[in-house]
Amino acid sequence: MASEKVYRASTTAPVNIAVVKYWGKRDTKLNLPTNSSLSVTLSQADLRTLTTASCSASYPEGDSLLLNGEPSDVSGARPQACFRELRARRAALEAADPSLPKLSTMPLRIVSENNFPTAAGLASSAAGFAAFVRAIANLYELPASPSELSLIARQGSGSACRSLFGGYVAWRMGEAADGSDSMADQVAEASHWPEMRALILVASAAKKGVSSTSGMQQTVATSGLFKERITSVVPKNMEMMEKAIAERDFAAFAEVTMRDSNSFHATCADTYPPIFYMNDVSRAAIRAVEAINAAAGRSVAAYTFDAGPNAVIYYLEQDTEAVVGNLYSVLSEVDGWKASAVEGLKANVSFDESVADLLKNGVSRVIMTSVGEGPVATQEYLVAEDGTPVKSSS
Ligand code: DP6
Repeated sequence: MASEKVYRASTTAPVNIAVVKYWGKRDTKLNLPTNSSLSVTLSQADLRTLTTASCSASYPEGDSLLLNGEPSDVSGARPQACFRELRARRAALEAADPSLPKLSTMPLRIVSENNFPTAAGLASSAAGFAAFVRAIANLYELPASPSELSLIARQGSGSACRSLFGGYVAWRMGEAADGSDSMADQVAEASHWPEMRALILVASAAKKGVSSTSGMQQTVATSGLFKERITSVVPKNMEMMEKAIAERDFAAFAEVTMRDSNSFHATCADTYPPIFYMNDVSRAAIRAVEAINAAAGRSVAAYTFDAGPNAVIYYLEQDTEAVVGNLYSVLSEVDGWKASAVEGLKANVSFDESVADLLKNGVSRVIMTSVGEGPVATQEYLVAEDGTPVKSSS
């Protein structure tokens, strides 16, 4: 029967790691930020979310989400905002063309899986909401651009709006009270600067103590330093970062990346009571990057930290030996190295004993990845033709 038909669409979406951080909301309902931000999209070969959106008149009432095999609550304001925006756009298409099936009236069944273990300790909300929005937009055959979809994904999780694009991506804070100009755009394609690599040192897989959503609002409410950050530090960093990317100037990219991470964590320390995301292992990673850069006589590596202790170290492929060779020399026992990438690398830095010990004892795994592409539609479905959820084959 036609009414029992199951409609499906699948997409993958990437993780992104900011080099100019989003931290602070000026409107918590619409998820509008206090400052613009900029990130590098990471390769989906290493880290990605795969999501199938499906709908059918035969589904029981109410939208549902199955996340890594577990039912997940979609009654919260954020997923509801995404459902509402996407349905409204589909309903407009259906109103304009009555021959279209009335997908906007059917319950949605969303099934989503990450290809990285939760134990990787990486925030997956960016890839998760980007995939969620992209998959439903594909299902509804919306003619929306990635920037338009970023407006919707932003309401799911701020950083998710940047995962609608590959390469180097800015989220412009915008000015409008209704949020209509707070969206992402692509600063440069991944192919503009394809040599960009990222080495993630996983220092803790535990769920973070203070969530970014609540942490950033405590900072907005109590930190004096924060005002300086949003009015002066970030606008300058955005400008310098865009220039560094346009000119493929890694030294400038590295300095802004490290300074912006330091500035963000300084506002966390200036929050009252203070918030600490970095730990001794994180600080050892900073010391290690400094030693590597000192030995190279230039910036070959740049660290950055989100709302947790894991270090993300950006470097260029041509500096693999200087960066990875030295870190591998202390962390060779840890899981996650790509054999082909570390084979034959030599080390020329001898780290302080305390730095080496902290890294050895505190880093549980590494992830080697690179700049990558944006969401990709795929024929791999997590919902079978009859509507039953299935597991991913990869
Ligand atoms: C430190 O996007 O997780 O990673 O909008 O409340 O969902 P919500 O916050 P979220 O915050 C990310 C903060 C950050 C910096 C960044 O990614 O820019």
